Amino acid sequence: MYEEPTRSGKRLVFLDAAASAPKPRVVIDAVADMYSHHYANVHRGIYELSEDATARFEGARRAVARFLGAPSEREVVFVRNATEAINLVAYSWGRANVGPGDRIVTTQLEHHANIVPWQQLCREVGATLEYVAITDDGRLDMDDLRARLEPRAGQPLRLLAVAQVSNALGTINPVAEITEMAHAAGALALVDAAQSAPHMPIDIKEIGCDFLAVSGHKMLGPSGIGALWGRRELLEAMPPFMTGGSMILRVTLEGAEWNSVPHKFEAGTPAIAEAVGWGAAIGYLESLGMDRVREHERYLFEHAWKALSGVEGVRLLGPADPEIHAGVISIVMDEIHPHDVATIFDSEGVAVRAGHHCAQPVMIRYDIPATTRASFYVYNDLDDVEALAGAVQTARTVFGV
Ligand SMILES: Cc1ncc(COP(=O)(O)O)c(C=O)c1O
Repeated sequence: MYEEPTRSGKRLVFLDAAASAPKPRVVIDAVADMYSHHYANVHRGIYELSEDATARFEGARRAVARFLGAPSEREVVFVRNATEAINLVAYSWGRANVGPGDRIVTTQLEHHANIVPWQQLCREVGATLEYVAITDDGRLDMDDLRARLEPRAGQPLRLLAVAQVSNALGTINPVAEITEMAHAAGALALVDAAQSAPHMPIDIKEIGCDFLAVSGHKMLGPSGIGALWGRRELLEAMPPFMTGGSMILRVTLEGAEWNSVPHKFEAGTPAIAEAVGWGAAIGYLESLGMDRVREHERYLFEHAWKALSGVEGVRLLGPADPEIHAGVISIVMDEIHPHDVATIFDSEGVAVRAGHHCAQPVMIRYDIPATTRASFYVYNDLDDVEALAGAVQTARTVFGV
């Protein structure tokens, strides 16, 4: 973790991994090593350096496939981030498979990345987008979900898109169960794993979904690299999202023939060193063990929840049950705007995110403008939880609540 003191002279207590995680030395070294000794463009050079770069880049794809429990690395498409992964599905699969009168269901706890692409798609093709409601304590309302999966004459359900972990509430959704329900209703299931893959063991085969989106930067990897995993037959049937170099087999003046998956979806020079850095981040997380990562964050969550939930004037969002709450705590303080709370926290060296967290429908649901969000990761400890609790007390003192 960064060793430089903060503006206040206090040690940095970094509680904003949910926005983007800091990078461990092994990742920084892997990126530097790639640029220093192995860098060339991939998939095109007939010379040693390019073959070396290609092998390292493809090694990263294998690491992502292994980490996610994907049946094959050929189903892993490198993209910039989870947002691009979801957009790829919305543009490519969506425009080819969703039509007038069709329905897509997502939920009210999604990040905008899992809402806006579906809004755009539905608007364009004349389909309807529905949202599964959330309960007062931030869980998906499963009765509402069931009702939305009921068959409706002339309105087939095409896709259910859901986050495994809510970035605004911390809720862990039962995605395997939801995927099964979607399939029973004749729909495909897309899982947004941007906030789950970094923090808990995940296995695509167990989840059983059709598409899954992740970002490298939230799991200790570089920014600018992420992945879409998709079932092979779906990816093969989908038209390309972007066209140009690398994604073709043959181009004539009349037209072009697409490359095989995943390359069909990787037009242009990819984020080569970033992919390799992400591979190193995955190796690092695997060496810690994702079960242990989850246990650690659960431990910190339980302590933080206990320390904050009794405090007067403080409301915590999301489920109290640590089994279904990841290491993300959204705090609402009576009569203090979350930006002011975060500013006070900052003066204590505690870095959190304040805002709507790109999940404005969650704010609308709870009738709040924003929250102050603390999120934990592998480098945090009980001292950090104490610093968070101390910062809450400081905010109360400063604002006299
Ligand atoms: C649940 C969730 N989905 C998607 C995203 C989008 O990730 P990115 O900005 O890396 O595309 C985020 C980012 O915060 C997120 O929390």
